Amino acid sequence: MSDSSTVVVQPARSVHGRVRPPGDKSISHRYALFAALADGTSEISGYSTGADCRSTLECLRGLGVSIEESRGPDGLRLRISGRGLGGLRAPAAVLDAGNSGTTIRMFSGVLAAHPFATTMTGDDSLRSRPMNRIIVPLERMGARIESTGGRPPLTVHGRADLQAIEYIPEVPSAQVKSAVLLAGLQTRGTTRVVEPLATRDHTERGLTAFGVRVDRDGLRVSVTGGQRLTARHLGVPGDISAAAFWMVAAGSVSGSRIVIEGVGLNPTRAGIIDVVRRMGAGVTVEPDGGVDPSASVGEPAGSLTVEYRGVGSTVITPDEVPGIIDELPVLAAMATHGGEIQVSGAQELRVKESDRISALADGLRRMGGEIDEQPDGFHVRGRVRLRGGDVDARHDHRLAMAFAVAALGATGPTTIHGAGAAAVSYPEFFRVLEGLRA
Ligand code: S3P
Repeated sequence: MSDSSTVVVQPARSVHGRVRPPGDKSISHRYALFAALADGTSEISGYSTGADCRSTLECLRGLGVSIEESRGPDGLRLRISGRGLGGLRAPAAVLDAGNSGTTIRMFSGVLAAHPFATTMTGDDSLRSRPMNRIIVPLERMGARIESTGGRPPLTVHGRADLQAIEYIPEVPSAQVKSAVLLAGLQTRGTTRVVEPLATRDHTERGLTAFGVRVDRDGLRVSVTGGQRLTARHLGVPGDISAAAFWMVAAGSVSGSRIVIEGVGLNPTRAGIIDVVRRMGAGVTVEPDGGVDPSASVGEPAGSLTVEYRGVGSTVITPDEVPGIIDELPVLAAMATHGGEIQVSGAQELRVKESDRISALADGLRRMGGEIDEQPDGFHVRGRVRLRGGDVDARHDHRLAMAFAVAALGATGPTTIHGAGAAAVSYPEFFRVLEGLRA
C-alpha cells in the first residue's frame, strides 16, 4: 500500500450526514482466521476493506487456505474453506503481515502449534514493533521463535505437542491474550490468561460463535485444547474505531450532526461513547435488534447520532486506556476544538503503528496546538484555535485521520503528508469526509 499521498484538509463550517463505517478491523481478522481453522465452509459478510485485513487474507492463502471474495453492500463478502484445527499447510514463502500487528501476533499463536517453520515479516513500522510479549508465552508453551532482537521478521518453529499454560501478560493486550488462547486451543490441557486490565474480547466472542467453549471469570479467560471449530455464516459490524472520527467531528464542529449506522457496540470497545459525552457531545445510541449490547456472546451493533453541544474537558485514567487505546489520537484532536484532555497510563501508544505520543505532539504543534508530552500520555489544551499547517502522519492510519479531524476546526488549511495510510483501516475516509461538509 502506498502512503506517499498528501491531502489538504480545509476548515469546516459544520459536518452533517449519515455514514456506515467499514467492517470492524479486529473482528474481521478474527472471523477470517477462525473460519480458516474451522471444519466446513464459512461465509463472512461486511469484512473490512482495509489493507490490514487484506494482509490477514493473504497470509491465510499462504498457509493453504482457499478464500473466495466478492464485493458486498457493506464491505467484502468471503467464502472461506476451513482446514480444520491444526490443518494449516507449511507456506512456500515468507508471509507478509504488512502494517498489521494483530495479524503477526495472532498468527504466531496459531502457528506455534503447527509442526513446521513459518517466517512472517511486515512493513517498516511492523518491523519496529515489540514481539517479546508473544514470544515469551509461546516459547513457554514449547514453540521456538526467532526474531531480530524481539522484532519481526519472526520465524515460528511450531510443534504439535504444545503445553497449556497459565499466563499473566505484563501489558494489557488483546493481541497477546489472543495469541496465547489460540495456541492453548491446540494443546491437550487448559490454558488461562489473567489480564492486568480488561481488553477487547472479540477472540472470546468469536471462538464462542464458532462453537468453542471459552470460560470467563472477571479478568481470567480460559480455553481447553482440542475443541473443533464449526463453520459459520457471520456478519462483521462496523468499526467503532473508524466511527470515532465521525463522532469527534460531529461533536467538535459547531452546528454539526452525524448519524453513524451499523456500528459495533461491544462494551469492551464502546468507551469512546462515554468519553465524547464527557467532553460535551450529544450522543444517542440505538442498538439494533439481535445481540443485546450487555451480553457476553455475539457482537452487538446499532446506530449512533452525535451532535455538537460545545467541547469541554476530561481526564483519562489508566484503567480506561485499554478500552479506548485506538481512539486516543482522535480524542486529542477533539480537545483542540476548544476543550482539554489529560491522558496517563497510555505508554502503549509509543509502540503502536508509530510512536503516537511523539507524532501527535509534533503534528498538533505544527498546526498551532498546545500539547505537553509525557512518557505515558499527553495533555492537550484547546484554548487557542489551531491555525493549520504541514503535518506528517508518519505512515500511521489513525494519525492521518486524527489530524484531518483536528484540521476541521483550524483557521487555515492543513496539509497531511502520508495521508494514504488511512487505507490501512479506512480506505474511503477522505472521500466520506468531503461528503459530510455542509
Ligand atoms: C487489537 C488490539 C489492540 C489495538 C489494535 C487491535 C486487536 O492492540 O490497539 O489496534 O485486534 O486485538 P494491543 O493488543 O497491542 O493492545
